[in-house]
Amino acid sequence: MKAALQEVDIAFHDFHPPEDDFYAEVIEGLKGSPPTISPKFFYDQQGSRLFDAICACHEYYPTRTESKILRDRREAIAQHVGEGCVLIEPGAGSTEKVRLLLDALRPRTFIPMDISREHLRLAAQGLAEDYPWLDVCAACVDFTAPIPLPVDPDGARKVVFFPGSSIGNFEPQAAEDFLAHLRDMVGEQGGLIIGVDLKKDAEVLRAAYNDRLGITAAFNLNLLHRINRELAADFDVTAFAHDAFYNDELGRVEMHLRCQRDTDVRIGGETLRFARDSSIHTENSYKYHVEEFQQLAARAGFRPRDCWTDEDGLFSVHYFEAA
Ligand code: AVJ
Repeated sequence: MKAALQEVDIAFHDFHPPEDDFYAEVIEGLKGSPPTISPKFFYDQQGSRLFDAICACHEYYPTRTESKILRDRREAIAQHVGEGCVLIEPGAGSTEKVRLLLDALRPRTFIPMDISREHLRLAAQGLAEDYPWLDVCAACVDFTAPIPLPVDPDGARKVVFFPGSSIGNFEPQAAEDFLAHLRDMVGEQGGLIIGVDLKKDAEVLRAAYNDRLGITAAFNLNLLHRINRELAADFDVTAFAHDAFYNDELGRVEMHLRCQRDTDVRIGGETLRFARDSSIHTENSYKYHVEEFQQLAARAGFRPRDCWTDEDGLFSVHYFEAA
């Protein structure tokens, strides 16, 4: 007799992405001026849980707005993409959003890419179970480095799906370079479906990163807890406060950990000093007008084909083709 619970067989390609040197990167960032911690370090187990909670917050409009656009527009998106493409999702995470498109898009292969090996394996397996007709081919890679495609899909159109406005974490020039790299990956007939948060009223943006329940604050402060846990540092977390605001001049939301009083931190063999009112810069989240993002993508070799927004003009989903 077969076991009741059977694991679906998926292709899993491990490209052995180099692991982050958390200690070295944190020390280097904290010693910089201004001091920084990379937003990629938000997502330990606790941070990933808090991020999921942010996405469910009333004030944090991007997740539900993008999901609604994808759901409402999936047929139009499918019209552009055509049947039987190879769909690639860098940083696929839990593959929640691609599910909104799969039945309409009917890709022949789905390639979720992620650096987090076991999370990727579980997500890919779950997807393969729920979509038995879909060929799921997971790739454990660092998608910001040149990406080796695990299959050579003869003739099929390659389309990258990059939702969530993750592109907002890149500096504009780095965003352009990253899109150019995606353009290389998808080739001549390739496409790109990308979610981009829009510029809007500063108060709406401020509220989205300062939810009343304090979940975003906990997410930001978790960086210090994580450093204490994993690097045996002794940050007095109560000396820091969450600070998030829209920087109108640079078109980005900035998140900082603002120092409430002078404080010392021991980390490794060293003592670092933070002065009252100084800050540790933890994240930028760039916002774009539709045309502004289309111009950025055009510089990276993508031609704008279509763009959908919600009726309140909060969020955009673009479809581009290789130029
Ligand atoms: C995952 C980068 C799109 O910038 O809105 C949410 C991360 N930070 N709340 C964003 C985040 C604070 C999010 N991105």
